[in-house]
Formats: sequence, structure tokens, C-alpha cells
Amino acid sequence: MKILGIETSCDETGAAVVEDGRRILANVVASQAALHARYGGIVPELASRKQVEAIIPVVRAALSEARLDREGPSHYVGALARAGQVEWAGLDAVAVVNRPGLAGSLLVGVSVAKAIAFGRSLPLVAVNHLEAHIYANWLEAEVSLSTQPTRASGPPALPALALVVSGGHSGLILMEGHGAFRTLGRTRDDAAGEAFDKVARLLGLGFPGGPAIERAAAQAQLGPSHTPNPARPEAIPLNTQPTRAPGPSLPRAWLRGSHDFSFSGLKTAVLRLVQQGGWPLPELAAAFQEAVVDVLAAKAIRAAQEQGAACILLAGGVAANSRLRQVLEARSPLPVRAPPAALCTDNGAMVAACGYFRLRSGETAGLNLDVLPGQRIALG
Ligand code: KG4
Ligand code: ZN
Repeated sequence: MKILGIETSCDETGAAVVEDGRRILANVVASQAALHARYGGIVPELASRKQVEAIIPVVRAALSEARLDREGPSHYVGALARAGQVEWAGLDAVAVVNRPGLAGSLLVGVSVAKAIAFGRSLPLVAVNHLEAHIYANWLEAEVSLSTQPTRASGPPALPALALVVSGGHSGLILMEGHGAFRTLGRTRDDAAGEAFDKVARLLGLGFPGGPAIERAAAQAQLGPSHTPNPARPEAIPLNTQPTRAPGPSLPRAWLRGSHDFSFSGLKTAVLRLVQQGGWPLPELAAAFQEAVVDVLAAKAIRAAQEQGAACILLAGGVAANSRLRQVLEARSPLPVRAPPAALCTDNGAMVAACGYFRLRSGETAGLNLDVLPGQRIALG
């Protein structure tokens, strides 16, 4: 079954064709990052206007790249493709993110998906953006974790504990089955990606902040600092270069007895260090990254063990962070899986994968499908 997945929830325009929820036939993403970089963050009004401009070319590119005529018996179909026309004949359904996200951006993808579904008489499937991030772990890819170049074969084992860390949301979600999600914890203030973006801004690094901080941190000369972990006193910090003197020390909000996160105190602590002066930028970036990664990894492992999960799944833009991948894999007694970095950030392939499993359980949306911009991390 071939599904067209459409993602326009924020500042990326994504369209992809995925077969049976796993095999990527095409995955096209147009990013607006350069546009928003000028403003140091996403400007919703600009984002939705750019979505309007990008959506048709991106969907067209995905459909022609997927070569849907390949297995088609008809010469007519091949002739259409050669003529540069969009090929629809092999498509079985259209999946689109309708929640959560920016209202104006979501509307673009949802409107186009409805038009395609109506025009081609295809089933329409509504997908939750955060759930889609988790399903990026179902996509076939060559590489998995940075330190583990060969990908575990087959789909992830369930129940799985998903650490969903994006620009808008952070949470620990137990996935008990397809479509069966339970939120165990969420951020009480900034999302992990939002913290990366805000700290990058106060360090004078570019937007989006996550990749900029990761690059700056890689230049650090000092080793990661360590604050004792009250939640796991036995925890030994993963210090890849123990001979280096420790860098600046930053607090960790463990929020004992809860699976929630909090990153706003950390942001303020970085601001104080910047104001005090004295620490080079790479050391500040590395100390911040280490503090975020330390908490995310410890809390994900704790929740997974408590819930008897079979594995930990990384998901969302921050899952592209190689230090997070490295630390989680080194510390976790359970198998850890993560999509390749390019599939961690917003894309249409994850939407198509998620849509496949939704459709398989008989869930389709009507042409009255609406956007739900404010829906929190609670899935379903
Ligand atoms: O999932 P995503 O593409 O969009 C949302 O759903 O929000 O996530 C974007 C977020 C941004 O905050 C960005 O700074 C962060 O993911 N991010 C990273 C990295 N790459 C992207 N954070 C840390 N390290 C990275 N390498
Ligand atoms: Zn996202």
C-alpha cells in the first residue's frame, strides 16, 4: 500500500510516498529555516505564506520521484510520467498532519490533502504530528544511532518508551500498540528544542539552535561538567574524555517522582554564566547540551524500566543530536532506536508511515477534517 504523507505543521513543507509504512519511495522537504533565521525564530504569518508557495511543487516532486508508474501495467501511465505530469495511479491513500502546530501552516497541508483525496477518490487519514515523529522509527533506513551504523532489522518491539523531543513539545510516551499511546510526562515549560533555540540565541549562534549548539559544543576543550544525579545516585557520568578539566557547571531539573521535564531554569543559568563572562562559547554550548542530554537520557531510561518497555525510541528534531544518541545508547540497558538524523526533523515520510498504521486499523477522516493547532502531546 502506497501512501502520500503531507506535513506542513510548522516551517517545513514535507511530502513523501511510503510503501507499507516502511519503505520510502520519495521524501521531499522544503525548509524555511533561512527565512526565519533572520528573525531568530519562526514567524507564524510568514510560515503559512511560504507553505502556500511550497506545497504544490513539493507534492509534485515527491510524486514524480516516487515513480508510481514503475509497477503500473499501463503504457498510458508511463507516457504521463514522461510528459512530466504528476502520477497518481499507484497511490492508495493520503495522510496529513492536522494537529498540533501553527494553525495557518496546518491549514495548507490539510486543504491540499483534502483536495487530492476528493479529486482522486482516495481515503484521507488525519495524523498527529508527535505520533508521526515516533513512527519515523518504522521507516527503513541505512543507519540508526551514530555509534551503531547497522540498523536493527524489523520494526521496533512494543511496548516502547518514546522520548519525543521537538521544537514545540517534549515528552515521555509509552506506546503499547499501534494507536495506543500513554503520556507519562511532558515539559512544564520550554520544550527541549525550544531550549536549544533560546540558548543558541543568547549565545549569538544561529537558528535553528540545536544544530548550531551541537557544532559549537564539538569545539569545546574542556570535559562535560557533572552535577550529581539525585534521582539516580549510582549514575556515573558518561565522560568521553575523562582527562579533561571540567567545563562550567549547570543545574539539572530532575523533578523527582515525576516523568516531567523543565528546561527554563537551565536557560536562566546559561544567561547568568554569559553575563558573568569568562567561559568560551564552545564550553558554554557543551555544558548546556550535556545538562539537557543528561536529564533526557536518565528520565527516559527510568521511565522505560519502570514501564517494562522493550526498547526506547528517540523521536523529534532534538533526536538528531548525536550527543543525545550517544549518551542514551551508552547508558541504556534496553535497546535504543532512533531514525537517521534527516528523518528526526519534520518530514512527510513519518506522516505516511503513521497514516499507514492508522488506515490499517480502519481510521479515515472525512472531508470536513479540521485543524487542531493547540492539541498537546496527548495522542490519539
Ligand atoms: O521536530 P522538529 O523538526 O519540529 C517540531 O516539531 O518542533 O524539531 C525542531 C527542533 C528545533 O528546536 C531544533 O533546534 C531542534 O529540533 N534540533 C536539534 C538538532 N537538530 C534539530 N536539537 C539539538 N541537536 C540537533 N542536532
Ligand atoms: Zn516536529
